[in-house]
Amino acid sequence: MDNLILAIESSCDETSAAVLKNGREVRSCVISSQIDIHKKFGGVVPEVASRNHILNISSVVSEAMEEAGATYDDLSAVAVTYGPGLIGALLVGVSYAKGIAAAKGLPLVAVNHIHGHIAANYITHPNLEPPFVCLVASGGHSHILYVKDYMEFEILGRTRDDAAGEAFDKIARVIGLGYPGGPKIEALAKEGRDDAMKFPRVEFSDAPYDFSFSGVKTSVINFLHTKEQKGEEVNKADIAASFQRAVTDVLVSHTIRACLDRCVDKVVVAGGVSANGALREAFERAASENNLELYYPQPVYCTDNAAMIGCAGYYKFLKGEFADSGLNAVANLKL
Ligand code: KG4
Ligand code: ZN
Repeated sequence: MDNLILAIESSCDETSAAVLKNGREVRSCVISSQIDIHKKFGGVVPEVASRNHILNISSVVSEAMEEAGATYDDLSAVAVTYGPGLIGALLVGVSYAKGIAAAKGLPLVAVNHIHGHIAANYITHPNLEPPFVCLVASGGHSHILYVKDYMEFEILGRTRDDAAGEAFDKIARVIGLGYPGGPKIEALAKEGRDDAMKFPRVEFSDAPYDFSFSGVKTSVINFLHTKEQKGEEVNKADIAASFQRAVTDVLVSHTIRACLDRCVDKVVVAGGVSANGALREAFERAASENNLELYYPQPVYCTDNAAMIGCAGYYKFLKGEFADSGLNAVANLKL
């Protein structure tokens, strides 16, 4: 019999629900983005996000069920993101999922948002299987992981300060592009030269897979201040392109190094930043030079969505790992 899972994601500013068949086939995925609401504040306002999740969740779930042509009786389980993320936002999804599970007598599967980002690749690539090395680069996280099995992960490297997406968002704000920064920097960078300025690439001798993006951010800000004080014009497209290059250079080189050191022949990229075209091109080049197979999700599954949560939830479901009605959201949930 087919396994149908309803999944709910509400960890940040997207309210999303999806129905997945047998883990990897998306029957529906509805994403209600609050970007237009948060844009005017220059970033996500947690309280506003929670309220909008409450307003949206019921219709988003109904729409996902309807689009999938499923009834609650057809479901095998309900999966939900329980962390990491904004606590108030997470609580909306967790409470809603608990309500459905209790009312319909369905097992509840609690999913780590980062596992979800990795699983987005299983949807796009039906034949992809662990082991592999995965870079997860989003607004809140930058990790290099050794994915041993569907539910077994080893952290090889992590950011010591800002996440890669966070750095994109901050620099976009500083140069006046607004929120969300990643796609705006990417668009502007196409008109600039990526070797116009040399921003730092941080390496740690004791931790070759770790990242630090606060230095590149400060360096861009100092560059802008100096130009301003001298009354000189700045070419924002050159800044965007050079900044993007500095970030993508370290994301790619550290991830490829991890693959080679671990003798793994598959490199997987995930998270909002994996939508970036320049990053993908750099990975394409590096993967082909090193004879590695490269995987990244189709754009809609790079940023937050419930389909990836349903896919990760499926593998937890198969292991019989269920949550009880006492499930709580965990804002700083670790991997
Ligand atoms: O995975 P995601 O939707 O949310 C988190 O879990 O954080 O990632 C959002 C982040 C934001 O920081 C956004 O600026 C970044 O991903 N992002 C991008 C691009 N699209 C989204 N960064 C660079 N280039 C992009 N095209
Ligand atoms: Zn995310």
